[in-house]
Amino acid sequence: MSEELLYAGKAKSIYSSDKADELIVVFRDDITAFDGGRKDVIPGKGEYNAKVSARLYALLEEHGVPTHLLALEGPVRMRVRRLTMLPLEVIVRNIAAGSLVRNYPFVEGSPLDPPLIVIDFKDDSRHDPMLNDEIILALGLVTQQELEELKQLARRVNEVLRDLLAGLGIQLVDFKIEFGRDVDGRIRLGDEISMDSMRLWDSRTGASLDKDVYRFEKGDVLSTYGQVAARILGGE
Ligand SMILES: Nc1ncnc2c1ncn2[C@@H]1O[C@H](COP(=O)(O)OP(=O)(O)OP(=O)(O)O)[C@@H](O)[C@H]1O
Ligand SMILES: [Mg+2]
Repeated sequence: MSEELLYAGKAKSIYSSDKADELIVVFRDDITAFDGGRKDVIPGKGEYNAKVSARLYALLEEHGVPTHLLALEGPVRMRVRRLTMLPLEVIVRNIAAGSLVRNYPFVEGSPLDPPLIVIDFKDDSRHDPMLNDEIILALGLVTQQELEELKQLARRVNEVLRDLLAGLGIQLVDFKIEFGRDVDGRIRLGDEISMDSMRLWDSRTGASLDKDVYRFEKGDVLSTYGQVAARILGGE
């Protein structure tokens, strides 16, 4: 196997594989918050995120959302299609929380109907500034048609995940996704959807079930991630 580390991000490492158009994503146990200002290692976290991400991407594929997922090849290794990633963070919000409440006069916990889609520029050195359609098009990041496609896919992802999680007693408050173009130029969902990238509240108690537990020291991060993984993976 010709595996070579291509990129080590904050929580995942990307390796080349035996096939030119396929990559291996390794979900590490590293966890960061506040633009990388806080870092820790939580042994076992990577496995929960890998398994949840694989399960959610398989479900999304069943619902017609093209993703990069090919196969989970072990507890933390995912084989994916190589994408040329778009430097965009597509955020979908069902309930006001986090930066939306810090930056605008929304009341935390109030429903957003229809859900809000916000797109940030994925650039840590610029602190991921929020974009708008005109800036995205002026930067030439995507075409007008692709921009509409991204938003439509994001809405679809939201519907599928919101329904699944609601049935498990979890409110999908908001989440971040990333897209890229595959070798045929087709837009696909890349990266991950996990407890690091979704904001989840227990429907009954309102308790945080995601990275906010780490950010705001609300409890045991690993056991929280484990409980969410158990609910999502069910009897797997
Ligand atoms: N299918 C794919 N093909 C190519 N690159 C991918 C694919 N899926 C995800 N990536 C990229 O791999 C990297 C994953 O690493 P990770 O998420 O740890 O780091 P990061 O994005 O640099 O940091 P962070 O997301 O924490 O701000 C990201 O840059 C992501 O855009
Ligand atoms: Mg990332």
